[in-house]
Amino acid sequence: MKVARNSLLFDTLGPAYVALKEHGLWAQQNQLLAAHWGEVGQGSTVLDLGAGTGIGTLALEKHLPPGARIIGVDIVPAMVARAKKRLDASGLPPQRVDFRTGDATAMSDVPTGSVKAVVANSFLYLVPEPAKVLAEVHRILAPGGRVVFMEPSAEVDWLASLRSGATHAGVALREPLAAGQLVAAMTAWWVAGSLVGRRSRAELTQLFRDAGFEKVEFKSTLSGLGQHIIAERQA
Ligand SMILES: C[S@@+](CC[C@H](N)C(=O)[O-])C[C@H]1O[C@@H](n2cnc3c(N)ncnc32)[C@H](O)[C@@H]1O
Repeated sequence: MKVARNSLLFDTLGPAYVALKEHGLWAQQNQLLAAHWGEVGQGSTVLDLGAGTGIGTLALEKHLPPGARIIGVDIVPAMVARAKKRLDASGLPPQRVDFRTGDATAMSDVPTGSVKAVVANSFLYLVPEPAKVLAEVHRILAPGGRVVFMEPSAEVDWLASLRSGATHAGVALREPLAAGQLVAAMTAWWVAGSLVGRRSRAELTQLFRDAGFEKVEFKSTLSGLGQHIIAERQA
C-alpha cells in the first residue's frame, strides 16, 4: 500500500522530479551531509535513506574514505532501477555503492549496529510514520554513529533567506540552467513541504528523543529554507 502510494506519486511526478533534481547543484546540496557525518573510516557503512535516483548517493560516495561503502535505499522500485543505471554508468564497484529497494520503517536486511552514519536528503517529512523510521535508524546505527538529515525548515526568516540567496547570484550567472533548475526544485520542494507539513524544531527534537537520541542539533542550510538535523547514537 505504502509502495503503491509512493510509486504512484513518484511515477506520476517522475519526469518532473528528474528534470528538477538531476543536476550538479542538487548533488552539491546532497554532499553537504558528509560534513556532519563524523568519523566514517575505512570499513564503515553509510546508509542513504530515500535515495531516489541516486544522484546524491553517488555525490556522497566521493567523500567516503577507501574501503568504506554507501547503500542507497528507496521504497520505489523505479527509483532504484534508475539509481542502478547511474551506478553502472559510473563504473564504481558494487562493494563501494549498492542500491536496494526497501522500506525505511523495516530494514530487516540491515543488521543491528552495523551502520556508521545514516543520511537522508529531503525524506523524513514525506514519511507518514517518522517515529518508526527513527526507531529503525537508531537500531541499525553503531554506538557513536550519526544521523544527518536535510529537511525543510518550518521556522524561516524570509528576510535573511532573501539576503543569503542574493549572495549566490554569482552561481546563477555562471550556471544559469542549473541555477534555474535549483530554484525550481527548491520551489517545488517548498510547496511539497507546505502540502505534507513541515515539522518545527521542537517537534523534531521530540521525535528524535523518543527514538533514543539524546542530543539533537540543527544547522540552517539552503539560505535558511532547509535545515540539517544532526543526532548521535550514544557511544
Ligand atoms: C524527495 S525524494 C528525495 C530523493 C533524494 N534523497 C534526493 O535528494 O534527490 C524522497 C524519496 O524518499 C522515498 N521514500 C518515501 N518513503 C520511503 C520509505 N518508507 N522508505 C524508503 N524510501 C522512501 C521516495 O520514493 C523518494 O524517492
